[in-house]
Amino acid sequence: MILKNNCIFLVSLICYIFDANASSECKPRRTKYGLVCVCTATYCDYLENPQPTANNVVVVSTSKEGRRFAVSNLRFNTNDTNINTKTSLNISSEDLKSSAVVVDSRQTFAQLLIDAGERFSSRFPSNRPLKLRVNRSVEYQKITGFGGAFTGTVSHLLGLLEPNLQDHIYKSYYHQDGIGFNLLRTPIGGCDFDLAPWAYNEEPQNDPALSNFTKLDPRDEVKVKQLQRLKQVSSLESLKIMAATWSSPTWMKSNGKWTGLGLLKTEYYQAWADYHLRFIELMDAKNMPIWAISTGNEPLNGIAFFFFVHFMSLGWVPRNQAVWLNDFLGPTIRKSKFKDILIFGNDDQRYSFPAWFKDMNRTRLGVLDYLDGLAVHWYWDEMFAPTLIDLTAQILPGKIVLNTESCIGDKPWQTHGPELGSWERGEMYASSFLHNFQHSYNGWIDWNIILDEQGGPNYANNYVDAPVIVNATNRAEIYKQPIFYAMGHFSKFVPEGSVRIDAKILSASVEAVAFKRPDERIAVVLLNSGRIPMDVLLIDSVRGEIVINIPAQSWHTIVYN
Ligand SMILES: *[C@@H]1O[C@H](CO)[C@@H](O)[C@H](O)[C@H]1NC(C)=O
Ligand SMILES: *[C@@H]1O[C@H](CO)[C@@H](O)[C@H](O)[C@H]1NC(C)=O
Ligand SMILES: *[C@@H]1O[C@H](CO)[C@@H](O)[C@H](O)[C@H]1NC(C)=O
Ligand SMILES: *[C@@H]1O[C@H](CO)[C@@H](O)[C@H](O)[C@H]1NC(C)=O
Ligand SMILES: *[C@@H]1O[C@H](CO)[C@@H](O)[C@H](O)[C@H]1NC(C)=O
Ligand SMILES: *[C@@H]1O[C@H](CO)[C@@H](O)[C@H](O)[C@H]1NC(C)=O
Repeated sequence: MILKNNCIFLVSLICYIFDANASSECKPRRTKYGLVCVCTATYCDYLENPQPTANNVVVVSTSKEGRRFAVSNLRFNTNDTNINTKTSLNISSEDLKSSAVVVDSRQTFAQLLIDAGERFSSRFPSNRPLKLRVNRSVEYQKITGFGGAFTGTVSHLLGLLEPNLQDHIYKSYYHQDGIGFNLLRTPIGGCDFDLAPWAYNEEPQNDPALSNFTKLDPRDEVKVKQLQRLKQVSSLESLKIMAATWSSPTWMKSNGKWTGLGLLKTEYYQAWADYHLRFIELMDAKNMPIWAISTGNEPLNGIAFFFFVHFMSLGWVPRNQAVWLNDFLGPTIRKSKFKDILIFGNDDQRYSFPAWFKDMNRTRLGVLDYLDGLAVHWYWDEMFAPTLIDLTAQILPGKIVLNTESCIGDKPWQTHGPELGSWERGEMYASSFLHNFQHSYNGWIDWNIILDEQGGPNYANNYVDAPVIVNATNRAEIYKQPIFYAMGHFSKFVPEGSVRIDAKILSASVEAVAFKRPDERIAVVLLNSGRIPMDVLLIDSVRGEIVINIPAQSWHTIVYN
């Protein structure tokens, strides 16, 4: 958000090119767990992407105290006459306490480089700034993008809202003035977040020709219209849709049920491959092309965790999946008109990496060549290190590693549903994004883009949190949670095609990750999870140095040339 009273601190050009539609500030509301930004049919907060010119550094900040995408615009190569040494940016709303983003912009990078030692020893006598070194000649992985999931529940909730409010949801996620998502995950048939379990061709049974799967379901027709609108209002050039199955029709399964210990009957291996291709064809015919599919959501649910999992799932062991992918799905897709669709493997928790792929490879040598990517879920990341993913990426080079599901509230010790306004949940996201991008991840797709106040609805009584919560009671408000801005600190400023570069900071509470964008600008995401404000001395390998004071418990994206 751009705050009116900050304009004097902004380069005037930037201040005046914002038009009222492009940037608008958060309408904050205090909630039990913290603070949300409220949107209605007639109002929602946006931020036009800052474009720092040669000498400028833009710092976009979110803090526990109440900032949401607050912009500080700093200028190099001039002695700034507007400010002394420190700029305090106040939140105008009385609902918020002020918190400072304090930046030293008096000196050019180069000047600071020369006399840094002297200057900092006098200005910060007892509290030397933390050094953050950004080296743009050390490059790591390329970024594919960011997204959320469009489930049956999401589609249903959107239908409750008036069109203008639906548009704000689409734009908030997928427009450049929102958080710039470009990826979207959608189930093929039903999933756990739907009003009922369902699949195509449930009837007639025992019908490998899929004679009744000749058109999309009415629920898909609704979804396709919503997605068309999403693309339109977000001015999206390309939306990368990843589709995944949760369960086959029950007659294809060994147990004949949606859930429980159930595997695909071997006689239906070809039918199940055809089922995927049929969905791709039908979506394409609706002008909603599919970018990627996975080999199926969380195969372990139908093998190992069926006791806990009460929603539709299809079990696989790596041996069987290798046969299905190598002998059926792979050839079916690659010999079709849709041969360029990407196929992602696993689509399950991190602890199954890399063993899952090694086992597949043992069963069918060469099967992994069918995979373009590796899909991994977030839920047990706290217990299993990201080095498992690095290891997998090493033995399977060139595959796109995407997190394909994340949400909070599934664990016995967590609130099952939203903690409206929770900073702590936002911080879990921010630090997870940061840690995973420090490893081999190329992108992140979150779970439901919206849920209701209970964290549903769904048939499985499976209630969790989401970045945006819909008031399904008055149907007139949505609430953007800290999680939304946590993701946005990455997705909005790190577009597809960005490359991670080296960023090092020695601190337990302040962490950073940096990217070089296709526009050649640098975006550094900086998190302070500590209880005290910190001075950070950013040292860029090309530009020089700048000191940024960041408040306690705050997230920042620093963008510069
Ligand atoms: C900035 O200030 C310094 C010291 O006050 C002065 O020497 C220098 O000429 C100034 N530079 C500009 C661009 O105004
Ligand atoms: C910020 O707000 C405080 C309290 O309202 C006020 O004293 C201070 O001057 C303000 N600072 C700026 C830079 O507007
Ligand atoms: C085809 O599926 C629909 C439900 O989508 C069902 O109503 C109909 O009976 C099925 N047709 C046959 C021949 O089973
Ligand atoms: C697949 O198996 C072959 C032959 O045993 C082996 O050389 C290769 O390293 C394996 N690849 C992976 C990813 O396990
Ligand atoms: C949803 O709207 C109703 C009616 O306006 C209101 O009473 C309720 O507090 C709102 N829910 C939330 C979570 O703010
Ligand atoms: C950046 O990394 C390159 C390659 O490792 C190294 O040669 C160079 O010295 C580094 N630059 C700085 C400023 O640390």
